[in-house]
Amino acid sequence: MVQMVKLCIIVGARPQFIKASALLQTIRNKYADIITPVLIHSGQHYDLNMSEVFFQTLQLDNPDYFIESGSATHGVQTARMLEPIENILLKEKPHWCVVFGDTNTTLAGALAAAKLNIPLAHIEAGLRSYDKTMPEELNRIITDHCSTVLFAPTQTALINLRKEGYNTDTKPPFSINNPAIILSGDIMYEVYKNNIEQLNNSAAAGNNKWLYDRHWDILCTIHRQQNTDNEKNLCQILTALYALAEMSYSIIFPIHPRTRKVIAQSAVLQELMNKISHLDNIRICEPIDYISILNILRDVCIVLTDSGGLQKEAFFARKPCVILRNETEWIEIVQCGAAALSGVHTHDIIHLTQRMIHHPPQNFPELFGDGKTSGIICDWLISNTEKR
Ligand code: UD1
Repeated sequence: MVQMVKLCIIVGARPQFIKASALLQTIRNKYADIITPVLIHSGQHYDLNMSEVFFQTLQLDNPDYFIESGSATHGVQTARMLEPIENILLKEKPHWCVVFGDTNTTLAGALAAAKLNIPLAHIEAGLRSYDKTMPEELNRIITDHCSTVLFAPTQTALINLRKEGYNTDTKPPFSINNPAIILSGDIMYEVYKNNIEQLNNSAAAGNNKWLYDRHWDILCTIHRQQNTDNEKNLCQILTALYALAEMSYSIIFPIHPRTRKVIAQSAVLQELMNKISHLDNIRICEPIDYISILNILRDVCIVLTDSGGLQKEAFFARKPCVILRNETEWIEIVQCGAAALSGVHTHDIIHLTQRMIHHPPQNFPELFGDGKTSGIICDWLISNTEKR
């Protein structure tokens, strides 16, 4: 009799719901007779439009477990997840624990699994911004070092791992001490491919049809801690947005709750936001669902963002991107000229945005695999599961 492979799949933040949708859909469609998924939601994102909306629009089943970790400082938030995840893993006894990306949810899942000697699979392994003051960089490095299999999305991720002394040619049996490194392609590219095909065959969908009543030149999002928790940085970015809107570019700016809260606490930022919100051609709205973002991406001229996920989605949609940071873990999209790092100085943001709108990049090479990442991951996990 074939042994069922049990995976505890841990998600909690917006981009992880998107990534998990591809894995869960592939399991449902192709591997239902061999893989049993157990979905654990850490509760890191909990607002309707940060969590449930993604479950609805990506047709995700409800999680098997929901932990109410909520928002807090990094240590408290991670601790609130760690204990319940450990209890769930002890109860479920999975063959593998699967985590995605670089959030506090990723870290909590990785630590819980590794300490219980449950093999860990890290999807989106090997990314580095080489800035350890970013919480995400610490989460990525620690998670990679807790893993038994590291699914690297790109060649750059493989090179990063080699630089850290990882042997990318290890042989079985694999373990935390002898991890496998697999070039799997990028799971977000798979989600993009699956959903864009459907969108191209149907009328505008998603939860926000009002978004498509007009054309937007610029899609902007800001949520990174290094931008939001620094009044000067946020002020410079918002000033650039104001200037671009005054130059008559139309801008759609879905605002992350972190950013909204920071603005509400600063008189300077509030005043700036008041000025911005009185301009006709800038629309500030609540965070929007994945399908609506894809719809907007089809139409915009350019994306301004500090999000790792959105800078890649702009690339998939063949749109230029100004990255509102000094570094990126997706360096290949900058190297090929599709995106540019602006930092946070107002003048640099405006200058790069105008330049990229007037001279849009033409080179969007195939950097992220063939959109079959989740199948590669499932096949590998099935073949490398120890018999019990
Ligand atoms: C987290 C990830 C980041 C990822 C992002 C995707 C970490 C360290 N950061 O950042 O890597 O790019 O998710 O969106 O894990 N809040 C709400 N409602 C919610 C969720 C958050 O109001 O549903 C507010 C709270 O004030 C909270 C703040 O947003 O303190 C930040 O949320 P948090 O999950 O800590 O980090 P993100 O900025 O979302």
